[in-house]
Amino acid sequence: MFAAWTVKHKPRALVEVVGNREAKEALVSWVRSWDAGVPKKRAVFVYGPPGVGKTVSVECLARDLGMELVEKNASDYRTEDAVRRFAGLASQYGSLFGGRRLILLDELDGITGAEDRGGVAAITDIIKIAQCPVVLVANDVWDPRFAVLRSYCLVVEFKKPPAGEVVRHLKRICEKEGIAAEEEALKFIATRSEGDVRSAVNDLQALAAGKSRLTYADVSWLAFRDRKEVIFSVLRLIFYSKSCDAAKRAVDMADIDLDMLFQWVYENAPAHLKEPEDLVRGMEALAKADIYRGRIARTQDWKLTRYVVDFMTAGVAMARQKGGSVGWVPFKFPEKIKMLSRSRAERALEHEIGLRIKRRMHMSANRAVKEVLPYVRVIFQSNPEWAAGLVRWFDFNEEMVEHIAQGKKYTKQIQKHLQTE
Ligand SMILES: Nc1ncnc2c1ncn2[C@@H]1O[C@H](COP(=O)(O)OP(=O)(O)OP(=O)(O)O)[C@@H](O)[C@H]1O
Ligand SMILES: [Mg+2]
Repeated sequence: MFAAWTVKHKPRALVEVVGNREAKEALVSWVRSWDAGVPKKRAVFVYGPPGVGKTVSVECLARDLGMELVEKNASDYRTEDAVRRFAGLASQYGSLFGGRRLILLDELDGITGAEDRGGVAAITDIIKIAQCPVVLVANDVWDPRFAVLRSYCLVVEFKKPPAGEVVRHLKRICEKEGIAAEEEALKFIATRSEGDVRSAVNDLQALAAGKSRLTYADVSWLAFRDRKEVIFSVLRLIFYSKSCDAAKRAVDMADIDLDMLFQWVYENAPAHLKEPEDLVRGMEALAKADIYRGRIARTQDWKLTRYVVDFMTAGVAMARQKGGSVGWVPFKFPEKIKMLSRSRAERALEHEIGLRIKRRMHMSANRAVKEVLPYVRVIFQSNPEWAAGLVRWFDFNEEMVEHIAQGKKYTKQIQKHLQTE
């Protein structure tokens, strides 16, 4: 069954809510102050950007202090009836069974338009005389509509938690889900979410659900997600322009690293130049571009860049002489760039695996990784019994097995076979 991780791993206590220590403390001490009688400010106005933990903090607050939480979406407070009910609830501190009550009016921004003025005014009137703590939540406390209401409230700001705090939360989730995640990968997700914890958790679930490992390589492509569209339109121009000029202009337009663009063009060429003769011409143009790239690297003569650009854009565009358009073929992410973004730790682990293979097969560790590992992986993912045999023969450790199998399901099956024999 699908369960959103924002719900499944929602904090159950205030200590689990990351960031915003001061705000949390302010909430706790204000609610505690009710024990000594009704305080001057009978309501708290919590505000801050989306997804930073406003709602969940109030829920945890009530749970931590053993209070009964009455949670309402403020936009329901448009009707007179609802307001009257609210007034009734707020008129007593204790609930029916002796517990204390905390009222949460969430998403106050939901009350819009002139007709709803009454709504905010009615809420204000109730706050003035409330006999139990009321928490109001909105994104923007400085909205003029709230001016009067605000003056009766203790204002508490929730801020975007720093990336390190978000990482802490993501780590906790990974532990519970049994995912070994690289610190770098989590940092990347956290930084990208810019303090919106909800979206960070959603990203994590999208990227890591069902995996046993989460590496930097698994997430780093996200950096290109936003730019992918740009690269795709450049590639479309390069492969399908009828004129040299348009193809060349594509590069200026894009402001992408030339080496990276080269890789994109090179790896996508076979899928987009279907006629063999066209492909030969395209590859020849790329080969020439590559010769100039090499020359630039050796001589630092950047003037030659012009030729690199000409060959890899106009040269490729003009390669299509026989074949027409190939219909819609998606551009694929270059393997080489994926490989380069792989983390150092992962490369080190692969090298270790290569060394184990080398011992048995008398070949270099590098060749072992390139030529043997892919086949081992296929076996790992299709025949756990054979895989277990290989694990013993090569003497792979647990971490290696996990890395090769690339999936919890496979790892578990192999481990089962290892244990039974
Ligand atoms: N500071 C946090 N610590 C841990 N989890 C968080 C935090 N902030 C948000 N979350 C996660 O994101 C979900 C949504 O958070 P919450 O509903 O509290 O956001 P909000 O600040 O009320 O946002 P909105 O303004 O959109 O209502 C939570 O259920 C929780 O899973
Ligand atoms: Mg909320």
